Amino acid sequence: MPEFRDLPPNHLRIRIGVGNRIANNQTHFLVHARDFWMFVFTEGLAGSKSNILDIGSGCGRWAHWLRDYNFRGRTFTGTYVGIDIDAEAIAWCEQHYDKERFRFHHSTHSSVSYNQKGEASQYRVPEPDGTMDLVVSNSLLTHVLEAELENYLAESYRVLRSGGAIMHSHFNLDYPPASYGTRHNLPAHHRQCAGGVDGAAGSRRGLSHRLSVQCLPQVGFKDPEIVHMPGGAQHQPILLAKK
Ligand SMILES: C[S@@+](CC[C@H](N)C(=O)[O-])C[C@H]1O[C@@H](n2cnc3c(N)ncnc32)[C@H](O)[C@@H]1O
Repeated sequence: MPEFRDLPPNHLRIRIGVGNRIANNQTHFLVHARDFWMFVFTEGLAGSKSNILDIGSGCGRWAHWLRDYNFRGRTFTGTYVGIDIDAEAIAWCEQHYDKERFRFHHSTHSSVSYNQKGEASQYRVPEPDGTMDLVVSNSLLTHVLEAELENYLAESYRVLRSGGAIMHSHFNLDYPPASYGTRHNLPAHHRQCAGGVDGAAGSRRGLSHRLSVQCLPQVGFKDPEIVHMPGGAQHQPILLAKK
């Protein structure tokens, strides 16, 4: 199908979790972020001229909306910055996005799953202080450990302008996807992940409580809340807060 010609290769799409059902994963890649951007634009969290940082940007499932966005002749003229630990995904994006609006950076975080040759849990996003209107991540926080989580929250805060917002989706123990049923031992799994590192690991409130109540005010964020996308269960809950 012509709509599928410009997609990133299948193995990169699989890595970001589109699933592997025939024909479905292409469509998933194309439409999945629609509810997210509709929410962002209708809530005024960003506009067509905004500067947006996407941490854990993968192979562009969020970015292609901004590259190809056209609403009554208006296109995205702001700046999108993507950060990822996956060097191959970053290289693919650099080749398929215009350099006027899109920048991509490779994070040096080390990771058992993603980058065993990484160097550190601290990574300075190569963007100046106070320049971003919105910092987003989709399904990143759940994949990182304590140090990387704190690093990215601090970096989100540093690069945001005053009044700017974060929107970080994550696996939330309070709202497990219905499809999980009883197949997974959630508290045990999340004890290994960012939200479960503290004493709340055994609690079903672990992830959201830790992120919104403990981490965010410490970093400086205001008014943290968990929001749900209009698309419902197919989306992870999003941690929204303001600088
Ligand atoms: C579930 S995928 C989501 C990708 C993208 N946000 C999307 O929705 O299409 C998680 C992404 O986080 C990236 N990632 C994992 N650990 C990271 C880290 N410490 N720093 C930056 N990116 C990381 C992975 O390489 C992967 O692209």
